[in-house]
Amino acid sequence: MSAFRSGLLVLTSPLSALSLRLVPILASAAHIVEDTLYVHLQPGLSLAGSAQPRSTYVPATPELCGLISKLYADAGTHGHLDVRVLLTNIRNQGAPAPPPTLGSVQNLAHPPEVVLTDFQTGDGGQYNPVKQRLERYATSCYSCRPNLISVLLYPDYEPDEEELPLGELKAGEESLPSYSDVVVGGTFDRLHNGHKILLSACCLLAERRLLVGISDQDLLENKMLKELIQPYEQRMEQLVEFLVDIKPSLRYETVPLLDPFGPAITESKLHCLVVSEETRKGGLAVNKRRLENGLPELALHEILLAKDPGHRENEEEKISSSSLRHRLLGTLLRPPLRNPALPSCPYVIGLTGGTGSGKSSIAQYLERLGAFLVNMDNLGHEVYVPGGPAHQQVVEEFGAEIMNENGTINRRVLGAKVFGHQEQLKRLTDIVWPVMAQMAKGQIEEATAQGKAVCVLDAAVLLEAGWTDMVHEVWTVIIPEKEALSRIMARDGLSEEAAWNRLQSQLPNSQRVQQSHVVLCTLWEPEITYKQVEKAWAFLQKRLEQD
Ligand SMILES: *[C@@H]1O[C@H](CO)[C@@H](O)[C@H](O)[C@H]1NC(C)=O
Repeated sequence: MSAFRSGLLVLTSPLSALSLRLVPILASAAHIVEDTLYVHLQPGLSLAGSAQPRSTYVPATPELCGLISKLYADAGTHGHLDVRVLLTNIRNQGAPAPPPTLGSVQNLAHPPEVVLTDFQTGDGGQYNPVKQRLERYATSCYSCRPNLISVLLYPDYEPDEEELPLGELKAGEESLPSYSDVVVGGTFDRLHNGHKILLSACCLLAERRLLVGISDQDLLENKMLKELIQPYEQRMEQLVEFLVDIKPSLRYETVPLLDPFGPAITESKLHCLVVSEETRKGGLAVNKRRLENGLPELALHEILLAKDPGHRENEEEKISSSSLRHRLLGTLLRPPLRNPALPSCPYVIGLTGGTGSGKSSIAQYLERLGAFLVNMDNLGHEVYVPGGPAHQQVVEEFGAEIMNENGTINRRVLGAKVFGHQEQLKRLTDIVWPVMAQMAKGQIEEATAQGKAVCVLDAAVLLEAGWTDMVHEVWTVIIPEKEALSRIMARDGLSEEAAWNRLQSQLPNSQRVQQSHVVLCTLWEPEITYKQVEKAWAFLQKRLEQD
């Protein structure tokens, strides 16, 4: 079976049976679909018989909500799949009659190339009209690619004899509540299955409008690995594409959240706030502020966060963006630099990071794994020694007063002249950086002579000095500023203010990360750091084999 980028899975089993079968159904679909898997829930739909099957409304019940959550949670084991459960035909009984969307074709962001179903025909699925009916049914509901392929996932099973639930509530079953305007907030970084559960609940509750606050700026300050959070625009676009796909009839509004409350405490025309276990307290605080502002309280609707089946050591148990960001450490974030002037061997990694980031220990790990290390900070010292390549020029530029009696350059005196003085500093680096680059090139030739395949250029100022033209990839080591601060104070015996000044004189992590191909973080135990480096090294070896 060849793989398709986008697929539509039409689920016809009764909900109770479906929840038991989800795992194998998703596994089968994951073999066939590579990217986006749309799921259309139509329990009781019959593709047998001569009549053309028609979409009917499915009632929005807590049971259905639970099933949707389970679907997204189970989808977590197929990391490549972007699952989207379509809610167009799901109807909240408390809501006024929905607009007549049934019968009109819905456009999807990724039109399906294949339609799959769990419908069981019992006759082996050889040539049979079921497949034709399935294709026609799929194209009557959603825009699909021409020449849609259909696949019966379980052609050999006997059909269920269970009573088929149709578009009516069973006796004793309750519908979900519904509200005209619903509000929800979050960071929505790398939209994941946990977000999708939250957003689906919002869409089922909302009749008219969903207002989504998206954390930005100061609200991201304390997030784990905040440097790897996607830009606001990108997070917003992913979010809106998903929402419009699953329920195009709602009106969606997004706003940047610059404080924890946002429009939830100022807009009168809101009725329900959707929260998770974690944000319930925030929801209560919102209502307190609304009352103070003379606004009616919001109904708080709490959803359960799904567990992440693939969570690893040092990651949260629930599906979370920070775990996803954690998994990015050591992986290739963007295509390597293509510098035609640079020979392909040895492959040169520029390793950088701020002071206190743990860059040196990572350089040592890489050396142990087989890399040839060029320590630019050591070269920096060599250029200043009497008779060294920059000694004379630096003395001419900054005066004899920077020398000790024995002719060595007093780094403290020189440092005082340039630190905090942009122009002076530039005069110094204009002399020293090109000399260091020349020395590094000599060492890289040395690595070639030794037959080394990978060279690591360990340089705090790699980006500032423009040494990226000497490397194939930039690897950056990051550490939260607060942690860097305490490391610098402990290591160099500096006051908090002095350590802070030193940090401020460097490129911020976010700017380094923007120019990096691989990011590493040394915040946790050394074993975790080592694992990251091993992972990065293993991926690098794979890239080198492919070239
Ligand atoms: C040169 O003098 C400085 C300061 O007096 C001293 O720290 C350094 O070790 C001396 N270097 C050599 C090579 O003698």
